[in-house]
Amino acid sequence: MSERQYLKIARVEDFKGIRFKRYTILARHVAIFKEPDGTFFATEISCKHQNADLTTGRFNGDIVTCPRHGWIYNIKTGQCLNQHSAKLRKHDLRIENGEIYISMFPISDDEDEGECS
Ligand code: FES
Repeated sequence: MSERQYLKIARVEDFKGIRFKRYTILARHVAIFKEPDGTFFATEISCKHQNADLTTGRFNGDIVTCPRHGWIYNIKTGQCLNQHSAKLRKHDLRIENGEIYISMFPISDDEDEGECS
């Protein structure tokens, strides 16, 4: 089994008053989200329909509606709620000394370790 690779991508303090920030990792569009309780998670943000940026969609809590054709996702679980679609992929996060590290590659569902604080 190979060791998962991480990239230092941000600082916790970068998220003061900010819910999410967008990044591109190996040509994949990903966002890191900060929860009200201070935990973080990272999710792919390209809509599974035609790749629209989901962070430009309408949010209602963890539910986001794609701005182009209305596919609805739970951004935290990655599940599409109104279409038969693959889930948005998640990345693992590690936080050490106020630095946020993100896994270079998406993780599979059985590797999902939940939120990171
Ligand atoms: S691109 Fe998102 S619903 Fe079409």
